[in-house]
Amino acid sequence: MSDKLWAGRFSKETEGKVSAFNSSVSFDKRMFREDIEGGIVHARMLGKTGIIPKSDSEVIVAGLEEILDDIESERLFFAPEAEDIHTFIESQLTKRVGEAGKRLHTARSRNDQVTTDLRLYLKREAVEVRRLLYALISTLCEIAQAHTETVMPGYTHLQRAQPMTFAHHLMAYVSMFFRDAERLDDAVKRMMRDSPLGSGALAGTLHGIDREMTAAELGFEKPCDNSLDGVSDRDYCMELAGALSIIMVHLSRFSEEIILWCSWEFKFIELDDAYATGSSIMPQKKNPDVAELVRGKSARVFGNLQTLLVTMKGLPLAYNKDMQEDKEAVFGAVDTVKQCLEVFAPMLKTMTVNKENMRAAAAEGFINATDCADYLVKKGMAFRNAYKITGELVALCIGRGTDLERLPLDEYQKASDLFEGDIYDAISLANCVAKRGSFGGPAPKQVRKQISVARKRLK
Ligand code: ARG
Repeated sequence: MSDKLWAGRFSKETEGKVSAFNSSVSFDKRMFREDIEGGIVHARMLGKTGIIPKSDSEVIVAGLEEILDDIESERLFFAPEAEDIHTFIESQLTKRVGEAGKRLHTARSRNDQVTTDLRLYLKREAVEVRRLLYALISTLCEIAQAHTETVMPGYTHLQRAQPMTFAHHLMAYVSMFFRDAERLDDAVKRMMRDSPLGSGALAGTLHGIDREMTAAELGFEKPCDNSLDGVSDRDYCMELAGALSIIMVHLSRFSEEIILWCSWEFKFIELDDAYATGSSIMPQKKNPDVAELVRGKSARVFGNLQTLLVTMKGLPLAYNKDMQEDKEAVFGAVDTVKQCLEVFAPMLKTMTVNKENMRAAAAEGFINATDCADYLVKKGMAFRNAYKITGELVALCIGRGTDLERLPLDEYQKASDLFEGDIYDAISLANCVAKRGSFGGPAPKQVRKQISVARKRLK
C-alpha cells in the first residue's frame, strides 16, 4: 500500500501526475539541515518532557544525525518521488531506526515544521547576503580612497550639474548598501523572534510540550504568541524579499550608470576583459553584459516579491497548499541577489577609471555656474540676483562658444562690479570641489571622512 505518511484514510494511490504536481522536494530539499535541526530539537524536547520515552528520543536524535551526515557526504540522495523534504527525512528515519522514528511527529505538524525550517534557512541566507554586501562596500571604499581627487560632473536629469568626485559618487552607493544591510538585519531580527514550532497544525497540541525550550535551542527569542499565526503567515518571506528587492534597485541603478560610463559617449570607465563580452558580428564591441544582467535580474527579484504578496493575499487562515509556492519565490530572490553581488564587486574592482575623461566632462557644461553665483553671494549679493547674472554670463559664453573660465574679466565686470580677478580661482574645477566642504559634501576631506566612517562600520 501507499508509502505516504498520511496513507491511513486513503483507499487509492495518488495518481502519478498528482504526486509529481504536489511534490516540493525538488526545491525544498535545500532545507534539509534545518529540517533535521528542528527534528533533533523537537525530539529532545519530547524526551525531556516525557511525552515520548527518553530512549526513543535518543534513538531519533542519533538517527537524524546519521541522516544529516549521509546527505552531507553524499551517501544519501533525495528521492525525487518524495512529497517534500519533511516527509523524506521522516521516512528515512523510520526506515533506519524503526518504531522510535514513528514517534518523532508527536505534537508536530508539517505546518509548524515547514515554517520553522524556512525561517532558519532564510536567516542563514540573509546573513550570507549581508556578508556579500559588506564585501561590496569594502571594495567601494577601496576604489573611493584612490579617487577622492578624481573630479567628475555630478548629474541631475542626466545633465551635467555640479562638480564632484568619483569617490563621492561611489560613497553614495556605500550609504545605500549599508541601509540595505540594516534592512536585512531587521528582517532577520523579526524572523528569529517568534518560533512557530509547537503551533502544531494550527491549534497547538494537547501534549505538554516545552515551546520555550525548542524556541531557545533553535535560536529564536521566544515561542510565537498565537499558534494560528505561527503556521499561517509568511510575512518574514515578504519582508526579506522586500529588503532584497531594494538591494536590486540599488544594484540596478548602479548597473545603469556603469553601462552609461562604458559607452563611447562617456568613456568614464573601462571594464576588465574578464568582466565584459564581445559581439558575434561587430568586432569592435565590448559589452557590459554583467551590469546589464544585474539590471535585468532585478526584474526577477521584484517578480518574486510580487509572487509572495499575491500568493498570500487571499488565503484564509491557516495553512493552504498555495503556501508551498512561497519557497521557489523567496529562494529565487535570495539566489539572484547572491549571484549578482558575487560578480558585481569583482567587476568594479577590476575596472579602469578614465580620470581624464571624467575631468574633461566636468570642464564642459558650465558645472561651475553655481559656484560663480555663490562667489557673488559671498560678496554680498542676494542669491536670486546672483543666479540671474550668472545665467546671463552662461548665455553669453554659449553665444561666443567659450566658457566661464575663459571669459575675460571686463565681461564679468560689465555684469557686476563685485567681480574681481579672484573669480577665476573661485570657478576653477579643483577649487569648486575642494570648497564643497559642507558635511557630507564632495570635498576630498569630507569624502575621506565618509570612507573612514564606513570602514569603521565594516569592522
Ligand atoms: N511541502 C509543504 C509546503 O511547502 C509542507 C507543508 C505541508 N502541509 C500540509 N498541510 N500539506 O508548504
